[in-house]
Amino acid sequence: RKAEKHLLVIFGASGDLTYRKLVPSVFDLYTQNLLPVNFGVLGLGRSKLSSEAFREKMKEGIKKFAGTTANKESMIDSFLEKLFYYSFDPEVKAEYEGFRDELEALNQKLDAGSNYIFYLATPPSLYPVVPANLAAYGLNREDKGFKRLIIEKPFGYDLESARKLNRKLQCNFKEDQIYRIDHYLGKETVQNMLVTRFANGIFEPLWNRNYIHHVEITSSEDIGVGSRGGYYDGSGALRDMVQNHLLLLTSLVAMEPPAVINADAMRNEMVKVLQSIRPIKEEEVEKYVIRGQYTASEIRGKMMKAYREEQGVDPQSRTETFVAMKFYIDNWRWAGVPFYIRTGKCLPTRVTEVVIHFNATPHHIFADNLQHVKTHNQLVLRIQPDEGILLKSAMKVPGAGFNVQDVNMDFHYSDLSNTYLPSAYERLLLDCMLGDATLYSRGDALEAAWQFVDPILKAWQNNPAIKVYGYPAGTWGPVESDELIEGVETWRYPCK
Ligand code: BG6
Repeated sequence: RKAEKHLLVIFGASGDLTYRKLVPSVFDLYTQNLLPVNFGVLGLGRSKLSSEAFREKMKEGIKKFAGTTANKESMIDSFLEKLFYYSFDPEVKAEYEGFRDELEALNQKLDAGSNYIFYLATPPSLYPVVPANLAAYGLNREDKGFKRLIIEKPFGYDLESARKLNRKLQCNFKEDQIYRIDHYLGKETVQNMLVTRFANGIFEPLWNRNYIHHVEITSSEDIGVGSRGGYYDGSGALRDMVQNHLLLLTSLVAMEPPAVINADAMRNEMVKVLQSIRPIKEEEVEKYVIRGQYTASEIRGKMMKAYREEQGVDPQSRTETFVAMKFYIDNWRWAGVPFYIRTGKCLPTRVTEVVIHFNATPHHIFADNLQHVKTHNQLVLRIQPDEGILLKSAMKVPGAGFNVQDVNMDFHYSDLSNTYLPSAYERLLLDCMLGDATLYSRGDALEAAWQFVDPILKAWQNNPAIKVYGYPAGTWGPVESDELIEGVETWRYPCK
């Protein structure tokens, strides 16, 4: 479906997100003819730039980061004509008068129907400020056209600040005008999880405590914090990855089937999962949550810096770059099934996957092969890279006796030749243009996720005795994280 006419207004347009993700994704939509004729992008920022200079910079970003540039070079120039730039200080209310005039003039010029999407690609301190200023100038009112607001993460710093931000936003915009983006929900393979679960008769009956032994979710990165040390040191892996991406993934794995796929039905089910996660009390944090920080190491002759040596990081920092945790979802479907999640920087490889471990058979008649007796069937939903699905099952080794080994049934998205996988931002931007918030987080879901994470943060803050384990960069995190899962099996260690 093609988007309706509108203007996309980006606050923070001179920043990295606009350059690497937003404009290249909009260009990808343009090359696929998914944008209307009456469309434009208005970039906003404090930096003094002409529209011409903005276009030049964006052209570079498109060439580097767009997914569809091959054979589409000829479309870049016509696309760039749709980009404009206006410089002002979004913190100063009085400056919105000039901005509104500029916006309305552009709206007239492009005949965009007074439909505006405001994208906040700014530092989080501006999240409450910009919407209030927009509202003060009537730019939240939908009497003439739609007005939508997209907010980037981080959404709050803890439960209290997330609540405050929600209240503040909801004073100025209605909930259905607010689109809180989490790029994980835009990933094609994350959405495929819903299809795997709800369109396959073979999996649907098994997806519960009767057949599933435990669930493991890993999101590992093989790089460190790079140039983002300043931001990351005040955040850490729990806030940066768990509170949002990994808990959203958990909610998709565990949710009840919605009656239909639409924003309300889907998000009602997702929030119920988040609200059912058994809280980890402050005094239990040490037992259920392991945090780590990477230390310097040498891997295959390559020196890797310690986190504390990264630019912008406090040399005494106790910020975690790794988290592993175990929790339960206290509801009918999942009672007693442990969920293990793990994320970290500077691990051996970049991979995000969900592993469903099924129960073993009740009686082991091939008990001579002890290796197999201990393993369970596994369904691995590979979210990135090498997107696909892997089912591990037991097979007889040909020859005498009944030796059993695990074999793989492995599907790779890349085998679907000619299939273009849209990027997460491309998919999500188009959804917002279409007014579909299904894959955007709702305020109550984010609060529920913070509610779970908050006591862990507090325990870490209040008890310096809770260890931050060091792990050499390039390894699978502190060995202590294995103890969380011991007795069950081990973590799956996907290789490069
Ligand atoms: C971001 C985090 O939200 O997600 C980053 O702030 C992290 O620290 C990134 O690197 C991971 O995203 P992806 O899509 O590369 O898995």
